[in-house]
Amino acid sequence: MISNFLFLISDIMQFPIENFRELTTPFYYYDMALFERTVKAMLESASNVDYSVHYAIKACSASEILEVIRRYGLGVDCVSGWEVKAALNAGIMPQKIVFAGVGKQDAEIESAIDADIFCFNVESVEELEIINLIAGKKCKKARVCLRINPDIDAHTHHHITTGLKEDKFGIQMEDMEKAVALCQQLHNIEFIGLHFHIGSQITEMQPYIDLCSRVNDLVGSLESKGFEVKNINVGGGLGIDYKEPDEHSIPDFASFFGVFKKHLRLRSGQTLHFELGRSLVGQCGSLITRVIYVKHGKEKNFVIADAGMTDLIRPALYGAYHRIDNLTSSSSEYGVYDVVGPICESSDVFVRDYKMPLTQRGDLLAIRSAGAYGEVMASQYNMRPLPKHIISAVD
Ligand code: LLP
Repeated sequence: MISNFLFLISDIMQFPIENFRELTTPFYYYDMALFERTVKAMLESASNVDYSVHYAIKACSASEILEVIRRYGLGVDCVSGWEVKAALNAGIMPQKIVFAGVGKQDAEIESAIDADIFCFNVESVEELEIINLIAGKKCKKARVCLRINPDIDAHTHHHITTGLKEDKFGIQMEDMEKAVALCQQLHNIEFIGLHFHIGSQITEMQPYIDLCSRVNDLVGSLESKGFEVKNINVGGGLGIDYKEPDEHSIPDFASFFGVFKKHLRLRSGQTLHFELGRSLVGQCGSLITRVIYVKHGKEKNFVIADAGMTDLIRPALYGAYHRIDNLTSSSSEYGVYDVVGPICESSDVFVRDYKMPLTQRGDLLAIRSAGAYGEVMASQYNMRPLPKHIISAVD
């Protein structure tokens, strides 16, 4: 019981508040110790089943995060040539890089071929032909996985679902066979497998069970026609607990991988790949912001922070909830506030009717669980500077 308790405490994100007081806000803060514990926990669960994991760099591309990814030997999932470049610059081996995206430009394809990345996750027949052409000019063969749209409902926010028929991602299932056959005819393409990704912030396991059964069918049908499928990539999407980040700072990777172990039929020699983003980095980051004013309105009290939707767009874009902790209020009384930013948009609201210890000008707030799709989605609207980040001292 006691050791359990200690374990829980050690997973709670630690804030060096005294250091924060000196710093210009807003900024992202990454707890690197928690990040490493998360990566280790994930690798431990994945090693029981021998899976290959690629970090989805789009979630957070801070160089310190990529350094840990490199050190632990993970691969990387990229969705642009710039992400491929960042991964290479961080010292990630090209053989561990996969590259998806519906609109890869010729120059992005060229440099990925030059770098000899592990594979392109190809999203259309047109793209396949262009990759073949570009590889041909270089007298090279590009390895490809075909991204298939499995028409699985991930039961997540409609902005971050990707595996439904009406989504722009991937090749339709009924076109799969033709596309694989085309790969065999294209001289500069080597077909090495199938890729899927059904969405993000998925908190139930059922969509993954459905995905497994779809993959079993699709791989089975290809094999019955004599096509070999060496690699299966099931993407990412595992969700995190935005409500209770300290209680559940590390996602349940064992159950997640367990679903695939139980439901996916892997043939000998087949490798199963994952592309995890949010579940690895989400809980490790917070957006630290200072309260500029507390405005007492007729109906509402507004906490006006110096961070806004330009720094963290998830609440405005998806109605996403992020827990907010007042790091400096010592009041034992509570107020109810709308926590808002300074941007000239009425959607610039982090949370409405939120209970927090009495808050005043100068207080520091931590907007939690912002490690994934936080800093990377920042913009310069209103000519604001992009937020910077700092990291915890590594223990
Ligand atoms: N693989 C592919 C092909 C993807 O498109 C994504 C995410 C991932 C892997 C990683 O998914 P994750 O494990 O992080 O769920 N901006 C949104 C999330 C967009 C996800 C885009 N694709 C948000 O803030 O919720």
